[in-house]
Amino acid sequence: PDYDLAIRGGTVATASDVFRADVGIRAGRIVAVADRVEGAAREIDASGLLVLPGGIDSHVHVSQPSGPGIVMADDFASATASAAAGGNTCIMPFALQQRGMSLRACVDDYVRLADGACHIDVAFHLIVSDPTPEVLGQELPALLKSGYSSFKVFMTYDDLVLNDRQLLDVFDVARREGALVMVHAEGYDAIRFMTERLEREGRTAPYYHAVSRPEIVEREATHRAISHAELVDVPIMIVHVSGKEAMEQIRWARSRGLKVHAETCPQYITLTADDLQAVDMDMSGAKYVCSPPPRDAASQAAIWEGLEQGVFDTFSSDHCPFRFDDPAGKLTPKGRSSFRWVPNGIPGVETRLPILFSEGVSTGRISLQRFVALTSTNHARIYGLYPRKGSIAVGFDADIALWDPNRRETIRQEILHHGADYTPWEGFAVTGWPVMTVARGEVVAENGRVVGQKGFGRALERTAPGAGGTVL
Ligand code: URP
Ligand code: ZN
Ligand code: ZN
Ligand code: ZN
Repeated sequence: PDYDLAIRGGTVATASDVFRADVGIRAGRIVAVADRVEGAAREIDASGLLVLPGGIDSHVHVSQPSGPGIVMADDFASATASAAAGGNTCIMPFALQQRGMSLRACVDDYVRLADGACHIDVAFHLIVSDPTPEVLGQELPALLKSGYSSFKVFMTYDDLVLNDRQLLDVFDVARREGALVMVHAEGYDAIRFMTERLEREGRTAPYYHAVSRPEIVEREATHRAISHAELVDVPIMIVHVSGKEAMEQIRWARSRGLKVHAETCPQYITLTADDLQAVDMDMSGAKYVCSPPPRDAASQAAIWEGLEQGVFDTFSSDHCPFRFDDPAGKLTPKGRSSFRWVPNGIPGVETRLPILFSEGVSTGRISLQRFVALTSTNHARIYGLYPRKGSIAVGFDADIALWDPNRRETIRQEILHHGADYTPWEGFAVTGWPVMTVARGEVVAENGRVVGQKGFGRALERTAPGAGGTVL
């Protein structure tokens, strides 16, 4: 046969076009996109379905140490299984440097954890938490040269925060090496001030997590990150933007010609701070504790405007799963005593695509092309995976999600594949659902079942950010 696999009769969507075509696959690559592709060893009937580039989720936390006695709910096997079931063919987790440790040694640890465990491909970003002279002078430049072309820095969290001088120093390394810096923009000191005041007043329930880090705190840090990036002349990505205040800073930066990218996430279009407000005192608000916190209806409307108008380049999950009803998860003894100790993060790698499709495409807020750009193509372009991943065209990896645009589903914990024991979207109704995920030509998930093999997914090297495609 001419092809290993043909996907026939579907409607192909890319970031620029929507058209009727068959897709022919050989040796894991797309080798034909044509009216008719015949003579394949296996055919999949995609009539009535959308044929989309597999989702690329460029913001996923897996197996990260998260504080004493706290265990992240996903390892590489469960995170990639969950991602595959949700229509994704590639995730980008973080290799976190722990303070006092060599960055290189930490990266090697994550690569070892991922090796043999992944259902789909992964490509690591770094997290720099300890920019020692050794890290700035040798380790970071060497890693950025060797296929890790982006790293994240934090402006908050006790174990991760960098001060302004450290931010400038790591930005400068990124500029020299042509790397992209992802910035968690929330101001450490302002959050500490608010937290201590709330605790003195006895306001320690999960809801006060949202009160302790209002939009002002995010806006101030966003502005500071942008100013430092302008001083150094380095491109940055402001990750997980939650509302209008930070967006205004990003628009302002772009109007000055600065290379500032932006990401948002499902929680900022579907959840609000009220979700952290438990109905009774059962601590269930802890299920929604993430940073920045979800805001309000007006913020959701602002985020939609940004998704429509192109303020946002990428829509990622920020999957950061902890079990709820578990002393090693959200509810450690300390976590029960104050919001300050509840681990930050929510699971979402499997529900990202259905939520944006349903709330965005099915409602007519965004086009199908924009959906593809926000969930796949732009991730590949910005993070150096293009033109290998991120589109449906000859030469690309055969990474494809078959999508039923009319299927109605209700998101429930029992149908998901992550390691968490809850979903923040329990009972959330969606229209549009992934029915099959094909990764490098192999069916890895089908109708809610993960059918691929652990170890099929590989750790990918990347090119410089934006290489092979304009940085948007
Ligand atoms: O609350 C969050 N987002 N936790 C994950 C870590 C991060 O800051 O992205
Ligand atoms: Zn973050
Ligand atoms: Zn951009
Ligand atoms: Zn994150």
